[in-house]
Amino acid sequence: MLKDENNNRITEGDINQTTARAAWLETAIDAKTRLLLEKDNRYFLHQALSTPCLDVLQSCTGSQIESVSGKKYYDFHGNNVHQIGYSNPKLIEAISQQMQSLSFSPRRFTNEPAIDLAEKLAGLCPGSLNRILLTPNGSSAVGIALKLARAVSGKFKVVSFWDSFHGASLDAISVGGEASFREHMGPLLPGVERIPPPVAYRGVFQDKEGKCLEHLEYVFAKEGDIGAFIAETIRNTDVQIPSAEFWKAARKLCTDYGVLLILDEIPIALGRTGKMFAFEHYGIEPDILCLGKGLGGGIFPQAGIVTRDEYNVFGSISLGHYTHEKSPIGSIAGLTTIQFIEEHHLLEKVAADGVYMQSRLEAFEAQFEIIGSIRGIGLLWAIELVKDRFTKEKANKAAEQVMYACLKRGLSFKVSAGNVLQLSPVLTISRTELDAALAILEESIAAVQQPIGN
Ligand SMILES: Cc1ncc(COP(=O)(O)O)c(C=O)c1O
Repeated sequence: MLKDENNNRITEGDINQTTARAAWLETAIDAKTRLLLEKDNRYFLHQALSTPCLDVLQSCTGSQIESVSGKKYYDFHGNNVHQIGYSNPKLIEAISQQMQSLSFSPRRFTNEPAIDLAEKLAGLCPGSLNRILLTPNGSSAVGIALKLARAVSGKFKVVSFWDSFHGASLDAISVGGEASFREHMGPLLPGVERIPPPVAYRGVFQDKEGKCLEHLEYVFAKEGDIGAFIAETIRNTDVQIPSAEFWKAARKLCTDYGVLLILDEIPIALGRTGKMFAFEHYGIEPDILCLGKGLGGGIFPQAGIVTRDEYNVFGSISLGHYTHEKSPIGSIAGLTTIQFIEEHHLLEKVAADGVYMQSRLEAFEAQFEIIGSIRGIGLLWAIELVKDRFTKEKANKAAEQVMYACLKRGLSFKVSAGNVLQLSPVLTISRTELDAALAILEESIAAVQQPIGN
């Protein structure tokens, strides 16, 4: 298991037990905030990645979150819920109106917002991807997808990627590729085969995606009874972007071997990559698509799956059965979010922002030797810090220093895989705000490593 120099495990998020975190809590917050954080620490169950907290929030608007002491941070993390900007006025109005008419819809009844959202999602998805099941969170969408794949294929075995994340519930961690989520958890779902992901900058296959495909086919062929292959179309936390050839070939392998392709786009759908769904970049279709996070517009927990008409043959079993299944509030949130993306031409904006981000981050790469790789699409970017560009040794400590330097200056993001600065702003961010946040980032990297030539 990967550990940092203080014996903290390196996982998909930044580490909150380090001396740098302790120093932040000592120096960066005021007395009132400290008291609140102590209370938070006293009453919440401690867990990795979430406790202790960085600050106490009192508001969130547009591209920023604001603490109780009045400090504002550009939020380039936002748990991936914030596509249409925090406290989007159109969404607040829609939710407020919905709360005054139908605020809840018990099972055995339905409601217009849920029907409209289902119709909208079916209309956006290609081919026979016309069947929806709604659920309150991403992990349960993944759980439904796995159950449906078992029912459809009659097979329980699943292939997934090492290092992947599909949620924190027992079924989701069973297919997830991060050991830290499985520690102390005992036996999980049987029949999960993990393969190394096709990462380009480092990893088992380096830039040889063909090797990953060979491996995938090998497992499909050897096992003979794989029911599903689950993957993030584009890996969110450390931003791994496979080629179109990879996804086309992987799709074909799934079809050839009778394996259902489950694409988990919970953090990256709804415009993050410059398309409504990331699979649209690849000219492929999943058999089951998992959505979540931003589907609730950053206000309400809302997720779901989209799947094929022909799989609509299990009316006698409960695939979802979640209490807030057809939530009118969550549905109006989803519908309004999609309408907002469409009406404000956010997909085109994000695609243009992606080109701009690329040029800005390439300039950073030329300026700072500590940057080993930049990669991204739309408004999903990663800066990977290394001690040496040749050996690619991870610069974990520097990544943490940059993160705290940015937090101090008012920019929040997550460090992933120990050394990857992950940047996901709201999709509504203006160019001026983007420039302000990138200026903070540049200044913070420079505070950790002198620019080349200085
Ligand atoms: C790729 C992916 N799948 C699934 C999930 C789980 O979603 P939720 O936290 O809403 O259960 C997440 C959450 O971070 C995710 O990033």
